[in-house]
Amino acid sequence: MNADGNNPGSSNTAPLEPGRLRLPAVVTHVEYSAVVDSTNDVARRLAAELPRTATLLVAAEEQTAGRGRGANRWWTGAGSLAFSLLIDPARYGIEVRYGCMVALAAATAIVETATLHLPSPAVGIRWPNDVYIGRRKLAGILVEALADGRQIIGIGLNVNNSVAAAPPEISAIATSLIDETGGPLDRTEVLSQLVTSLDGALGRLAEDRSALAELADDLCLQKDEVLRVRLGDETVVGRCIGIADDGGLALETSTGRRTLYSGIVLK
Ligand code: BTN
Repeated sequence: MNADGNNPGSSNTAPLEPGRLRLPAVVTHVEYSAVVDSTNDVARRLAAELPRTATLLVAAEEQTAGRGRGANRWWTGAGSLAFSLLIDPARYGIEVRYGCMVALAAATAIVETATLHLPSPAVGIRWPNDVYIGRRKLAGILVEALADGRQIIGIGLNVNNSVAAAPPEISAIATSLIDETGGPLDRTEVLSQLVTSLDGALGRLAEDRSALAELADDLCLQKDEVLRVRLGDETVVGRCIGIADDGGLALETSTGRRTLYSGIVLK
């Protein structure tokens, strides 16, 4: 038991309380389960039954097949947040050509939410859309598009799950809010804050895409680092200038400035 009278062992992993969520009006449906395969997969299945005007939040305590970008898996530690938001970008007024910036908008929302709980402003974005504290990953984002243009924004945020309990390959490179702050957070409240922030960031993307990109650029932790980005068969090497106003990664390479819109940043 800690000084606040909480028992961290149980409160860290206390289940979400869907009835206590304070969500923006745009969210029309909420689906909460103890265990799912992947919240993105649940959202995809339910999307088929919902009108495109619906905005669906899917949250779960545990994922048996949590997915990351590419072929990566996602570790959903007990006490973390794993959820997906099914949106229609057109409903926000996001132009189709900027749909690829939804993930970046989500990254700014995670930073905004995490900052509410962190003593220092060290939290930022590593392009394309990972949220880090210093050199350690705090959250991951997996955005998937449906054939009809809707998008599923999947977010995994390490909250009350100390990464000390994670497999060694994860504990070496990840962090969580509890590891940074020392105390458990109310995950229902954090989820409410994050979905609200996400709604705000999507609105910002629709209204002023350059302002959103500028915010992402301010939060970019890779500036001045020499990055190696695998792009198909090519590896692009360059000093990171930041995030361009269309969400691309701006690099100063030996042959001049290049802006990349896809690729894997190599470690
Ligand atoms: C990454 O860093 O590669 C992206 C990780 C995304 C993980 C989240 S957890 C909720 C949602 N469901 C999934 O299966 N993946 C995303």
